[in-house]
Order: sequence, then C-alpha cells, then structure tokens
Amino acid sequence: PRKQRLLVVANRLPVSAVREGVDSYHLEISVGGLVSALLGVKEFDTRWIGWAGVNVPDEVGQRALTKALAEMRCIPVFLDEEIVNEYYNGYCNNILWPLFHYLGLPQEDRLATTRSFQTQFDAYKKANQMFADVVNKHYEDGDVVWCHDYHLMFLPRCLKEYNDKMKVGWFLHTPFPSSEIHRTLPSRSELLRSVLAADLVGFHTYDYARHFVSACTRILGIEGTPEGVEDQGKLTRVAAFPIGIDSERFIRALDLPEVQNRMKELKERFAGRKVMLGVDRLDMIKGIPQKILAFEKFLEENSHWRDKVVLLQIAVPTRTNVPEYQKLTSQVHEIVGRINGRFGTLTAVPIHHLDRSLDFHALCALYAATDVALVTSLRDGMNLVSYEFVACQASKKGVLILSEFAGAAQSLGAGAILVNPWNITEVAASIGYALDMPADEREKRHQFNFKHVTTHTSQEWAATFVSELNDTIVEAQLRT
Ligand code: UDP
Ligand code: G6P
Repeated sequence: PRKQRLLVVANRLPVSAVREGVDSYHLEISVGGLVSALLGVKEFDTRWIGWAGVNVPDEVGQRALTKALAEMRCIPVFLDEEIVNEYYNGYCNNILWPLFHYLGLPQEDRLATTRSFQTQFDAYKKANQMFADVVNKHYEDGDVVWCHDYHLMFLPRCLKEYNDKMKVGWFLHTPFPSSEIHRTLPSRSELLRSVLAADLVGFHTYDYARHFVSACTRILGIEGTPEGVEDQGKLTRVAAFPIGIDSERFIRALDLPEVQNRMKELKERFAGRKVMLGVDRLDMIKGIPQKILAFEKFLEENSHWRDKVVLLQIAVPTRTNVPEYQKLTSQVHEIVGRINGRFGTLTAVPIHHLDRSLDFHALCALYAATDVALVTSLRDGMNLVSYEFVACQASKKGVLILSEFAGAAQSLGAGAILVNPWNITEVAASIGYALDMPADEREKRHQFNFKHVTTHTSQEWAATFVSELNDTIVEAQLRT
C-alpha cells in the first residue's frame, strides 16, 4: 500500500545550511530533540518544511539552497534577517521559551522586552503566515500536516483559514506551563485560539495537556471535555503522546568498529577514573551551572574521590544571538575555570567542558563509556539525552541522575535517581550514591529504563499521533 503522505512543519529543518559560495551550501544535521526524534520516523512518505538556519537574500542563492534541500526531502521557508531577529531571537526564544520553562522574562531587560512585545508578536504572526504559505503550496489532498513546537502556535489557524479540510495536528516539544504563567502573556488568548484550530493537539505528558486545557477554560472560558476542548460544537482533541528515540539506531551503532575504537580510547584516557557525563545545548533550562556547582560540592565533601572521577560536559552552542544565552556561556566558563583551578593538578582537571557538538558516533561512544549521566534540567519537555544514555548502557549499566522537572522523570523515574536540581546538597549526595551503587542495584535500575526506552520509540510516537489524528477527523465527520 502507498505510504501516508506527511508534511512535517517545524521552525528548524533537520539540516541547517552554511553558505559556501554563490550557489553552494554545506548542510549539517541540526541539534535538538525535535529533529532527533523525527529523523527516526520512517513509516510515512515525509516531507519537511522549515527554516534552514541561514539568511539567503538573493534569488540565485535561494534557488540553489532549495535544490540542495530537495534531495533531503526538505522544503525551505526563507526568513529575512529582521524577521529572524524579531520572531526567532525575540518572541520565540526570549519570551515564549523562558516562560514555558517557568524562568520568567529575562531579568535585565524586562522593560525593554515588555516594550518590544507587540512588534515581536506581529513578526511571529507574519512568520507563521510565511510557513503557512509554503505548506499551502506543497499540500495535496489527503496529506497529514503536522505542525511542531512553540514557534508555530499560529500555524494551525493560518492553515485552516486556507483550507478547513486540511488534517492539522500540532505538537508541543516543551512543557506547557500552568495557566497562572500562561495568563501573563499579552497574547495569551490569540495563541490559545490559534492552536485550537488544529484537529489534534499533543503534549509529552498528561500534566502539560491538563495545563493547556485549564488555560483554555480560565482564559477563554471554554470547557474541557474528556476528549479535549469543545467550543461551539467544534472539538479539538487534546492528549499526551510521550516522545521516544530510535533506540535501535543507538544499539546498532555500538557494534561499529569506529564506535568501539572510540570507546577504547576513552577507557584508556580515563583509566582509574569514573566518568560522569552531561550532554546539553548550552541553554538556561538545562541547569548547567547548578550541575557544576553540585559537582564542586561533591568534590569538596569527598576528598578521596578528587582524583578518581571526571565530569565531561558537552555544551552545544545554541541561539547565540540571544543575549541571555551569551550571558550563560560566560557564566559557565567562569565556574568551570574556577573549579578546575581549585581542584585541578598539573596533569588532570576534574571538569572537561566542550563548547561544541559531537557527531553521532562520538556521542554513542561517550554514552557507552559513561558511569554516571547527569541531567539537571530546571524544566525540560522530555529530554532525549536521558533516553539515549540508557539505550547505550546495555553492557555498563551505569546510573542516570535525572531532574524531577524533566518530562522523562515520569517515564524513567523508577530506574533513575530523581533530584531537584536547585538543591545542590541533594544532587551532590546523589552523585556519591550513584558512584558507590552496588552492581545488582545498577542492573535492576538499568533494566527498568532500558525496557522503557526500547519499547517507547519515536516510530511508535509518530504512528500513534498520526493515527489518532486520522481517527479524530473520521469521528468529527460522523458527528456532523
Ligand atoms: N545532540 C547532538 N549532538 C550533540 C549533542 C546533542 O546531536 O553534540 C542531540 C542529542 O543526541 C539529542 C538532542 O541533541 O537527541 C537533544 O535533545 P534533548 O531532548 O535532550 O534536548 P533539546 O536540545 O531538544 O532541548
Ligand atoms: C528544542 C526545541 C526545538 C529546537 C531545538 C534546538 O528542542 O523544542 O524546537 O529545534 O530545541 O533549538 P534551535 O533554536 O536551534 O532550533
């Protein structure tokens, strides 16, 4: 049978482009959970629509990039510099992102942000309309259109205005905050109403879905039903669809000679030391300073561990034009420098901090060679790094220390050591507990997590969402 056609619409395409010449580009795989999960989805005839992360003002360049992306089944949306600044840097990443993660507006320029709110929101709507135009151009009858994340909350409405027969789903990859937070947004009602234009709205956890429904009730005065939200006879189905990873891909990679060699190198390099690992985009939500301070406290209180443990922190640069991210970068560098100065010796330092991304094989080797992984997100939609670590630990059976504020805490809670990342005394104690954990306890915890990660995959996530979307539409037709 022919595969279902699926249009995935997300701000970030799975490949980001770097311009090399007038009409040539270098394409790199984009970093982030959304891209990782969706790349694992293969049972649909999928096309991606999104931004390639580069400004291409000229037509020659646009044509060349469109052609290069077509080979990857990607269709670009071209956003000019000003839109990127107001929509992506501004509204998406300086307002929605911190708010949805309960961090509030950036402290220092709160008033400036408040003042520029309306311009940025206008740019947000304009950008969403540009995505809608491209979708509309490539849409064929029967396609499923799946919109992703906080960048595109306006898209469902734009699409339905073009064509109310379009099957439209929307999925949020971040937390949806309590209605008490959402109601502080000047655009609170417009955003909710636009999302409600979709046929199906999905979240990672039941809590986020519940927050969304109660925001609709309290802010719009629309009642929730067991299926979702119903407004004047129109039902928007709302449900939880916890995302997963392509676990087989990680498990298979561990057998490759290249990955095996890298594992061997790591083992030799850190012989006699336990390896602790953090892998995050360098984002405020990841709690990287908190993690490093907890590690410092652990070293402070456990002098016998000082030359027997190392923390490898991969911190991938992200959203570098947003001032808050620049501040975080220098803050983290300062703390790392201070602690390495304090506990380092001529031949070894306790923290290896890497300001760059790793390729897939290097990442797999690192996951597999790790004794204790540390995920200390202050808030996180799901956190796929924790899943990927578990998938690579079949032989080592290392320990996962996981923030209770990551969506993953609801699925890996029984296998991981859950911590409150704000409480560095607790995190430091958990590090000690993890490093000393007896093999039988590690084995039991690992088995629990491994089973979850290998049975709740990204393929299954996508299949469930799309079939639920199709069912929702059939049911709506039966009702009318
Ligand atoms: N990742 C990557 N290269 C790196 C570091 C991370 O491709 O050098 C990937 C990682 O494998 C994971 C994703 O980035 O799939 C991060 O997803 P997560 O859900 O943990 O957090 P997000 O970045 O989406 O907030
Ligand atoms: C998170 C978001 C994604 C985003 C990714 C990377 O995972 O949910 O939508 O793509 O971070 O961020 P960036 O701004 O580089 O796309």
